[in-house]
Amino acid sequence: MSTVNWETRLSEAALSVKPSPIRALLKYTKTPGVISFAGGNPDPAVFPVAEFAEAAQILSREGRDVLQYGATNGYEPLKDYVAKWMAPRMGRETAPDEMLITTGSQEGMDLLCAVLINEGDTIIVEGPTYPGALHAMRNRGARFLSVPCDKDGLRVDLLPSVIEEGRKNGHNIKFIYTIVNFQNPSGATLTAERRAELLKIAEKYDLVIFEDDPYGHLRYEGADVPTIFSMDKERSGRVVYACSFSKILAPGTRVAWIAGDKELINKMVMIKQGTNLCTSVVAQALVYEYCRLGHLDGFLPKIISHYAKKRDAMDAAFRKHLPRNAVFHRPEGGFFFWIQVPGVDSTQLFMKAIEHGVAFVTGPSFYAEPGMGTDFMRTCFTFAQPEEIEEGAKRLAAAIKEL
Ligand SMILES: Cc1ncc(COP(=O)(O)O)c(C=O)c1O
Repeated sequence: MSTVNWETRLSEAALSVKPSPIRALLKYTKTPGVISFAGGNPDPAVFPVAEFAEAAQILSREGRDVLQYGATNGYEPLKDYVAKWMAPRMGRETAPDEMLITTGSQEGMDLLCAVLINEGDTIIVEGPTYPGALHAMRNRGARFLSVPCDKDGLRVDLLPSVIEEGRKNGHNIKFIYTIVNFQNPSGATLTAERRAELLKIAEKYDLVIFEDDPYGHLRYEGADVPTIFSMDKERSGRVVYACSFSKILAPGTRVAWIAGDKELINKMVMIKQGTNLCTSVVAQALVYEYCRLGHLDGFLPKIISHYAKKRDAMDAAFRKHLPRNAVFHRPEGGFFFWIQVPGVDSTQLFMKAIEHGVAFVTGPSFYAEPGMGTDFMRTCFTFAQPEEIEEGAKRLAAAIKEL
C-alpha cells in the first residue's frame, strides 16, 4: 500500500485531469459477447501483416542506423516520401523544415498546444469534436469556444459572432480546430466553399487554423475536397495540417506528421526534444519501407472497398432496425455514424445497450461543454465484423425500445 499522500503533491494538471471518456467506456466493450461500435479502430482482419514483415527487411539493410537515436524532426526518407505522396493534397511539396514526424497525431496536437497555448488561452472547436483533442488541449491549459456543425461540417457562418463575442468576454483565442473530412464523430465533410470562407475569416481575425485530417484518404464515394492548407495560396503560414498512418495503415505504428510554417515547426521540434527526443526510428523506418515497396498504394484501395461495404451494411442495418425518428446521415468516408435518437439519453442507453451486448460512444463525450449531445451517439463501422453489424443494430434497437 502506498504511504505517500499524493493529493498534496500532485500538480494542478494532474489533480484536474479526467480519464478520456472513450477509454473509460472501452472497458465495457471488452465484456465477452459485446459487439463494439465504440472505439475508432481499424479492422485488424485487414492489417497488412505479411507486407509489414517484408518491410522489416530494412533492419538487415539499415539496422545500424535505424536502431540508433534519430533526428527529432523525423526519419528523412519517410519525410521525403510523405512530402511527395501528399503534394497533390497539399497543393505543393512541403519542405523538410515544414514537416515534423510525430508519435501519432495525438502528439502533434500536444506539441501544437505546447507552442501556442498559455494557461487560459482559448481554442475554437467544433461541437461535436474528437474527445482526444479536447483532452490534449485541456492538458495544456486551454479553454474552449464551440461552434456547431451540420451535415456540411463547421457552421462557418456562425464563426465571426463566436469570435467577436468571445473576444468581448476576454477570450484570448489562439486557433480554430477543425476535422475537415469525415469528421469524428459527425462523419461530415467541410465543403470547399466553407473551407475558403473559413480561411478568409481566419485571415480577417488573424487566427491560425489547425486542419486535422486522419480520415481524408478514406473516401468511399464523391470527390475529394481541397485541403485548407492548399487553399492558402499566399503561403501565409496560417494553416497547420496534420495526418496520420493510424487509420490508413495501422495505429500501432504510432507514426503521423504535422506540416506548417517552418518557424512554428521548429518550435515544436524543440519542445519534442524535451519529451521523447524523436519518434521511434524503427517504426518510421518500417512504415517508410512498407511505403517504398509500394504497399500503401496497394492497401488503400483494398481498405476503401472493405470499409465501404461495412458502411453500407451499417447504413442498411440502422435503416431496418432503428426507430423511425432516429436521425443520421450516411458518411461519404471515414469510420463513423453520428446518430440522434430524439429524447433518448445516450448515457442511460449505454448501460442498457451493454446489457443487450452492443457498445457505442455517448454523445456528450464529444462536446467541450457539459449538457450537449445528450441524445446523440457515435458508432464506428470499421471494427465490427460484417456479420456483427446487423446483429449489433438489432441489439441497439432492442435497448432503445426497453429504455
Ligand atoms: C480526428 C482525430 N485526430 C487525431 C486522432 C489521433 O490519431 P493518432 O492515432 O495518429 O494519434 C484521432 C484518432 O482517433 C482522430 O479521430
